[in-house]
Amino acid sequence: MSQPTARVAIVTGAARGIGAATAQRLAGDGFAVAVIDLKEDDARATVEAIEAAGGRALAVGADVGDADQVQAAVDRIAAELGPPVVLVNNAGVTRDNMLFKISDADWDVVMHVHLRGSFLMSRAAQKHMIDAKWGRIVNLSSTSALGNRGQANYATAKAGLQGFTKTLAIELGKFGVTANCIAPGFIATDMTKATAERIGEEWEPYVAKRAAAIPVARAGQPEDIAHTVSFFCSEGAGFVSGQVIYVAGGPKA
Ligand SMILES: NC(=O)c1ccc[n+]([C@@H]2O[C@H](COP(=O)([O-])OP(=O)(O)OC[C@H]3O[C@@H](n4cnc5c(N)ncnc54)[C@H](O)[C@@H]3O)[C@@H](O)[C@H]2O)c1
Repeated sequence: MSQPTARVAIVTGAARGIGAATAQRLAGDGFAVAVIDLKEDDARATVEAIEAAGGRALAVGADVGDADQVQAAVDRIAAELGPPVVLVNNAGVTRDNMLFKISDADWDVVMHVHLRGSFLMSRAAQKHMIDAKWGRIVNLSSTSALGNRGQANYATAKAGLQGFTKTLAIELGKFGVTANCIAPGFIATDMTKATAERIGEEWEPYVAKRAAAIPVARAGQPEDIAHTVSFFCSEGAGFVSGQVIYVAGGPKA
């Protein structure tokens, strides 16, 4: 478990789902973890779970798409936990609809959280990684980046994150910083529960239907993604950069 001198990791959108599992996994790997979500109160349960397991964590409230809030959050994390050298850009939202029904606001909020959010967080955190001459950035893409009916906004953002990741890898590599992308397939979280609800399907049959189309014959769990983040953030993964790994229980969505 983490020591006072432990390296510091930030996980955004870590109040629940993939982010919460990732924060707990990185704490188990020995990182002190800043748990960012929109509301500090919502991030507390993840922090308590980490502390109960003997780790060190800090709950931070911030909208990752707001430049001032992001800078304040990263400054606070550096002061209270230590300089962050791992960043997992996980915060996400969906506003699914067919193209002709996507409102301007539903387009903008998806870009705000995924693209602007990952950009602002990475820009603020990279300074500490460059100072440390070591860093790991992991961005959450999706199999939807390959195209997905009803997700023109989300697919665009998730494909954009792949280009963002590859460019960070090129720019930051010489400072000992890697940047990689994880593109999950179907993972059982509140996000996919909301999708089932939106299309009027009961959760359990919906999961069974999705699992039937997945080669490993089960739904993904947040821990499946946390495990892959853990690999990218490990010491031994320093020669792996600019990659996109599909974690989808098979070769494609
Ligand atoms: N669940 C899946 O099947 C799946 C598949 C592919 C990719 N992903 C991606 O993985 C990531 C996590 O997904 P999840 O299923 O755990 O989602 P989730 O909806 O369960 O959790 C997302 C978290 O992000 C937070 N968040 C939203 N906007 C924010 C903002 N502006 N600033 C800070 N925090 C914010 C939410 O409050 C929430 O706690 C997302 O980027 C998502 O797009 C999920």
